Amino acid sequence: MISKNEAIKLVKNTAKFSHALIASAMMKKIAERLGESSLEWELVGLLHDLDIDEARNNMNKHGIIASEALKGKLPEHCLYAIKAHDHRTGFKPESNLDKALIAVDSAAVLLEHVRRQLMELDVEAVKAQIEVVALEQPWHKRNILKCREIGLSLEEFLLICLGSFEGNR
Ligand SMILES: [Fe+2]
Ligand SMILES: [Fe+2]
Repeated sequence: MISKNEAIKLVKNTAKFSHALIASAMMKKIAERLGESSLEWELVGLLHDLDIDEARNNMNKHGIIASEALKGKLPEHCLYAIKAHDHRTGFKPESNLDKALIAVDSAAVLLEHVRRQLMELDVEAVKAQIEVVALEQPWHKRNILKCREIGLSLEEFLLICLGSFEGNR
């Protein structure tokens, strides 16, 4: 399996590097909470948007190009999560890892967006922002609520995400 340092080298020059670091920190904490493999989940968070620059004009390949490039470097179930994180590929989320990545991806996007507007980031403020964002981009709320399918309440999920986000601001 690829090391964390090698993974960082791969994503460093992509447009989504800071998003990848945030998603990775969140995935690690969620894995620890659920008793899953924190290294695998961290790497999936780090590498899920690896192909973003190549796939930008062909988003139904987003995640597929990355998983092909990562063949042999990550276990198959991790490659599947990367393919399934964007619904446009047609791969359906099945495992906890697949669902966690979808929830974390939207939570990372949302927190990156609201940190500019909110002085204080707490669970209630973020919950309110989820509703605001849902008016125009309903999929973020839908994605974040996938946390319930992996056994986490929205509050606990956001608390974990906020904790790892603060360390990466
Ligand atoms: Fe993505
Ligand atoms: Fe992403």
